[in-house]
Amino acid sequence: MKKSLIVHSLVIFTLSCTTLKLAEPTEIDVEKGKDIFPNLTLEELKEGKKLYQNNCNLCHKLYNPKALNEAEWRKIIPPMVKKVNKKLGQQILSSQDEEKILKYVLVIQQR
Ligand code: HEC
Repeated sequence: MKKSLIVHSLVIFTLSCTTLKLAEPTEIDVEKGKDIFPNLTLEELKEGKKLYQNNCNLCHKLYNPKALNEAEWRKIIPPMVKKVNKKLGQQILSSQDEEKILKYVLVIQQR
């Protein structure tokens, strides 16, 4: 009885902590995204998702790609990438990584 209660609480806790379910990029996103990034590839979008998911929730929850507009994302991502590198104490994210994160959020927000 007690054990099942603990398991139950854990499930509730896990669910309530589950951050935003990030959209998985597809070829349709690639096609749409080419309006903004002509040489866009699916690989880049997938990497962008991973980089975003793994590095951008160290201090706060992940923001929905639709939460900010294009200009806002372009402005916020560079300083946030610097924050990641500063927090982790090394050059974890390169400028190419920064570009991929930008591509991911800008393309996915078009959905
Ligand atoms: C070291 C902590 C830290 C990390 C890592 C971090 N952020 Fe932030 N983020 C903040 C803080 C603090 C704020 C609020 C104040 C500010 O804008 O500096 C913020 C605010 C934001 C906002 C809201 C901006 C707005 O206009 O409302 C967005 C979007 C954001 N971060 C995205 C990111 C992304 C994308 C990454 C990964 C590349 C990231 N953050 C990584 C600390 C962090």
